[in-house]
Amino acid sequence: MAVLQEQATVSLNEHARSFIAKVENRTARIGVIGLGYVGLPLALAFFKSGFPVVGVDVDASKVQHLLEAKTYIRHISCERLAEMRDSGKFTPTTDFASLQTVDAIIICVPTPLTVHREPDMSYVTGTAEKIARNLRPGQLVALESTTYPFTSEDLLSGILERGSGLLANVDFAIAYSPEREDPGNPHFDTHTIPKVVGACAPDAGDMAEALYSAIIGKVVRVNSMRVAEAVKLTENIFRSVNIALVNELKIIFDKMDIDVWEVIQAASTKPFGYMPFYPGPGIGGHCIPIDPFYLTWKAREYGVSTRFIELAGQINSHMPDYVVQRTADAMNDRLARSVRNSRILVVGIAYKKNVDDMRESPALPLIERFQEKGALVSYYDPYVAQVMPMREHAALADMKSIEWNEDVLASFDVAVIATDHSDVDYLPLLKTVDLVVDTRNALSGEQRAAFADRIVRA
Ligand SMILES: NC(=O)c1ccc[n+]([C@@H]2O[C@H](COP(=O)([O-])OP(=O)(O)OC[C@H]3O[C@@H](n4cnc5c(N)ncnc54)[C@H](O)[C@@H]3O)[C@@H](O)[C@H]2O)c1
Repeated sequence: MAVLQEQATVSLNEHARSFIAKVENRTARIGVIGLGYVGLPLALAFFKSGFPVVGVDVDASKVQHLLEAKTYIRHISCERLAEMRDSGKFTPTTDFASLQTVDAIIICVPTPLTVHREPDMSYVTGTAEKIARNLRPGQLVALESTTYPFTSEDLLSGILERGSGLLANVDFAIAYSPEREDPGNPHFDTHTIPKVVGACAPDAGDMAEALYSAIIGKVVRVNSMRVAEAVKLTENIFRSVNIALVNELKIIFDKMDIDVWEVIQAASTKPFGYMPFYPGPGIGGHCIPIDPFYLTWKAREYGVSTRFIELAGQINSHMPDYVVQRTADAMNDRLARSVRNSRILVVGIAYKKNVDDMRESPALPLIERFQEKGALVSYYDPYVAQVMPMREHAALADMKSIEWNEDVLASFDVAVIATDHSDVDYLPLLKTVDLVVDTRNALSGEQRAAFADRIVRA
């Protein structure tokens, strides 16, 4: 057995040498599975560095969009897609058999929560089964989807080995490298964000490091896949906990009539030991509301309690209720109106500013809470023309954004700014709507001074 293992290790070592040579001369073929917010920018980054790329997605409409060079992600232009398509070096497809032609397979499929708020690994396992049927010796499989520690070592490796008859880190290489994309952030792109790469075998680590170094300025190598998985969860739990803290501070300071935004601005002048986080109507996106619960779920297996992480989740998910209560109180005190039968406009439905992604957006429970109280709710979002169907918010599907003009705005009793997109002109809103609830500090100091009797911050 020891001899066999040694022979096999030599064979991965040979594969690794040839793989790294192909990466260096840009002939390595890259397969990206899942062409969403993570996978598509990654495919573009490899293309830009000179690699031929195969993009695989189960969603035939995405593949069709790419064939027609039509974008479905706001910050990715049709021109970039056209350049990639016209080069002849990009193959979008729904056919997993095309993975047989690639050297590296990078998995970027969703990792959401189930209805019971446990990790939903069905996308990863489904993808792994299809890869296994097409896996060949010498390939590198890298998982990028956010997940709990040991996913790559146990779940992914197991499926790939059983389905292919090949051995992980003997016949094929496996690595984990979490994605750190910050959609809509103009200061960082795929190339400039350092990337953590973990593998459990030196050759697999060398292959993954070489691959990612071709498109990323700084690769940070760690000694195992479980460490890399834990790094990603640590980063997102850090955000969740700090956002929960500042949300709680907001509630406290609101009661004391202290402006939490002014507090944060001043506290941020401390050059060490403080990092600003900002309150809001809750947390959203595909990561922060979800990823912490991948760790709490796994921790249960080890009998470890995760009170701090759970508490942060509770505080953050309570924020829409807080905003609804503050709005109802202000309507009562300032307008002598009840929420029932009032016309309420939610401004911004994307989960954060300047993106078109509304997954887990706190604006969604906000709308539902107002509706439960009998309000007639509409929304405006320059980037989200229509609400996409979602499991948790099925009744909101097909809602459409209103037009942003004074005539339409004048029909609302109250507006709640849930997302502070940069290019929204709030003046028509302030001129026409009697009460504007600002949950994001979106309104300027001058606007707050000029329309003080109409504005509430919550
Ligand atoms: N969006 C982000 O900013 C971000 C940041 C860091 C990490 N992540 C993580 O990256 C992963 C992907 O997230 P995303 O935002 O790109 O998701 P997404 O929903 O935008 O894209 C996922 C894509 O995978 C496709 N897909 C689903 N099942 C598939 C299958 N079996 N085979 C092939 N394709 C399949 C979907 O059709 C979709 O196009 C998740 O684990 C997420 O937590 C996302």
